[in-house]
Amino acid sequence: MPYTFAKSQALFARAQHSIAGGVNSGIRKMEAPVPLYFDHGRGARLWDVDGNEYIDFKLGQGALLYGHAPAGMAAAIAAQAQRGTHWAGQSELEPEVAERVQRMIPSAELVRFSNSATEAVGAAFRLARAHTGRPLILRFEGHYHGWADEGLVGFANPMDHWGDDERPAQLHPSKGVIPEVLQKFIVVRWNDTAHFRRRVEEFRGRIAAVVFEPALCNTCCIEPAPGLMAAIRELCDRDGMLMISDETITGFRFGAGCAQGYYGYRPDLTILGKAIGGGTPFAALAGTKNAMAKILSGEVIHAGTLNGNPLCLAASKWCLDQILALGASHPAGIQELGRRLMQGLAKLAAAHGVPLHPQGPGLIFHTVMLKPGAAAGPVNDYRDYARRHDAPRWAHLRRCLLEEGVSAIERGLWSISLAHNAADIDEALARAAVAMKRHAETWRAA
Ligand SMILES: Cc1ncc(COP(=O)(O)O)c(C=O)c1O
Repeated sequence: MPYTFAKSQALFARAQHSIAGGVNSGIRKMEAPVPLYFDHGRGARLWDVDGNEYIDFKLGQGALLYGHAPAGMAAAIAAQAQRGTHWAGQSELEPEVAERVQRMIPSAELVRFSNSATEAVGAAFRLARAHTGRPLILRFEGHYHGWADEGLVGFANPMDHWGDDERPAQLHPSKGVIPEVLQKFIVVRWNDTAHFRRRVEEFRGRIAAVVFEPALCNTCCIEPAPGLMAAIRELCDRDGMLMISDETITGFRFGAGCAQGYYGYRPDLTILGKAIGGGTPFAALAGTKNAMAKILSGEVIHAGTLNGNPLCLAASKWCLDQILALGASHPAGIQELGRRLMQGLAKLAAAHGVPLHPQGPGLIFHTVMLKPGAAAGPVNDYRDYARRHDAPRWAHLRRCLLEEGVSAIERGLWSISLAHNAADIDEALARAAVAMKRHAETWRAA
């Protein structure tokens, strides 16, 4: 029998009276049939307040690379809590965590900690403008860099306002944004290196930094085209721009060296979030000594009451030790599991005549649902995705999956954790088979 969600529904109704909109992050409203209320998690599994058990591929928006409630991390946090939860001062844990980051990421010569990647992105942009004395940041359409004024320009331009292919619009999905901020960004389509080169030429001498998600996980999990990273590095070196790799999702998931090690490039600044804290509110800005210089000199302000919080540091130290212990075996283990899941889902979809196509490097991937008549083949950029992906049909399948106990991120992103094993993947596929059948039988396009 498909799951039901009576207790979550009652709690969501109750929360309407005390929490604005009932949720604490806008995106959580997307969860259908209701934003779920959770009770506990263990390893690759998660239980909601109705007692429904999920094989979890959502993983706290990707932060839980080590699975739910790992005993070692819980013990590290508890031990630290006995000694103090917050000092707004230094602790030995700070260099211990920073040195682990340095050991794994060659471009991370210096590190600064924050509470969220949104904050680390803000610091990186400020640093880049101070470093170069230039006003503009070049960013790619469909890439997500946090929810602040600066992070979302050109993220998900609506189709009827997205501008021509050569000059994507600088729109922000939120009202209330400082209007001038929009003028400080140049939006470029992903994976068209010649177009990227033309856009840099157009604004040459005024660009402080080029920022990107190395694998575009926030829109359809689109890996970089061959040569794109090298072109970004080349033009950054030529023009004195900083190359900012936003590894909030890819950091430590793509291996100890992150996506920059996996794809083979060296940025000036790196944003780390999610897996660096394993589910605690922890993030970092890392960079070369040259790129971080204006923080050292004090010319660029980077601050925060809770920065370097000892509970988060204790968790992070435990997390990074897991990655170090795995050595060269990571990310091959989670990649193999992810590919097994991708192949299994593709097979099930084909068997039921569902136009679902997993895409991505496996350790994380996206499920594209093609619109009727849409061309087959990999999705290449945000526009291609918006044109071909059938969001309502995916939402219907995603709900069927959830009701059978398989949880993926609402927009179609699946992450594998170090706690998943082959039996979890096979069980998820058995549950997905039931969901796929029900979807195929009940889906009716509007
Ligand atoms: C690539 C990327 N950058 C930045 C952020 C912002 O991270 P946070 O939610 O920790 O502020 C996210 C969040 O999902 C992200 O995916």
